[in-house]
Amino acid sequence: MMAAKGKKIWMDGRLVDFADAHVHVLNHTLHYGVGVFEGIRAYSTAHGPAVFRLREHVERLISSAKFYHMPIPYSQAEIERAVLETQAANEILPSYIRPLVYRGEPALGVKNLTGKVSLAIAAIPAKKYLGDGSEAGIRAKISPFRKPPSEAIPSFAKAAGNYINSYLAGADATKDGYEEAILLDSRGYVAEGTGENIFVVRKGTVYTPGLESDILLGITRDSVIRIAADLGHPVVQKQLSVNELLSADEAFFTGTYAEIAPIKDVGHYAIGTKVPGPITREIMGVFFRALKGEIPAYNEWLAMVPPLAQPAVSLGR
Ligand SMILES: Cc1ncc(COP(=O)(O)O)c(C=O)c1O
Repeated sequence: MMAAKGKKIWMDGRLVDFADAHVHVLNHTLHYGVGVFEGIRAYSTAHGPAVFRLREHVERLISSAKFYHMPIPYSQAEIERAVLETQAANEILPSYIRPLVYRGEPALGVKNLTGKVSLAIAAIPAKKYLGDGSEAGIRAKISPFRKPPSEAIPSFAKAAGNYINSYLAGADATKDGYEEAILLDSRGYVAEGTGENIFVVRKGTVYTPGLESDILLGITRDSVIRIAADLGHPVVQKQLSVNELLSADEAFFTGTYAEIAPIKDVGHYAIGTKVPGPITREIMGVFFRALKGEIPAYNEWLAMVPPLAQPAVSLGR
């Protein structure tokens, strides 16, 4: 869990003090989980603070909101600017940035299609989702809770309500002493973690499940696919059986919050030699340098944060 503490929160065009960022307790999103959000990170680079893959995160936010009939009253460019302003106003690095699209007005009744759609953006100190030592490897278990099929709740939209499934899986894994849960899809194939995608390495090939396993198409997943391919490793997206995971040479999670976390055990099964394998380490090495702006080929992934000229008030809607 991250202690959420920042200086300012961007709410519908205004930077308000952290302590004053309130919504009504009868708001639609709180009761029914109908809201969409993003998790984004900003890092320190030699050229100043930078937000990692800002464009793709905002694109996913807009498409998630559209799917849930919540048109955001700001454009892609306006939201990107608002994220950069929020980052600049909070002066926290590394930071975890959380844009949330919600219906904040008091209104009960599930079929709320007309309530005002709001956008809030927070930036708080970033922690390691899977613990401080997660880069050395974590222990995971197969969850008794499966992913809901996308025919019931689409996995490609990052909706608040999706996370009650992640919560159940995470609670079970935590109470059993594991750092993370691995959820299977409704057909029994490996899907993802509570907030991460999963990769396995077998005989030099990198595998990861695709959309047919009801995963979120992670932006870190996309970065890792590109890095692995650039390093010359074959990358295959396919349905992964539990046995393919349990007998893998290497396995790791990817996510904005978790970054890259090698998996050393799945339940009673040791993965490889229980230390991050060579391909995992190679990918991690490139990834962690890329997000610090140390690899020119990946600098297109970094949006530099300009200093805050003056608090944004002009966008209030
Ligand atoms: C369920 C789930 N899968 C995968 C991911 C990884 O996605 P990303 O790399 O875009 O953070 C996340 C995190 O956002 C997630 O919540």
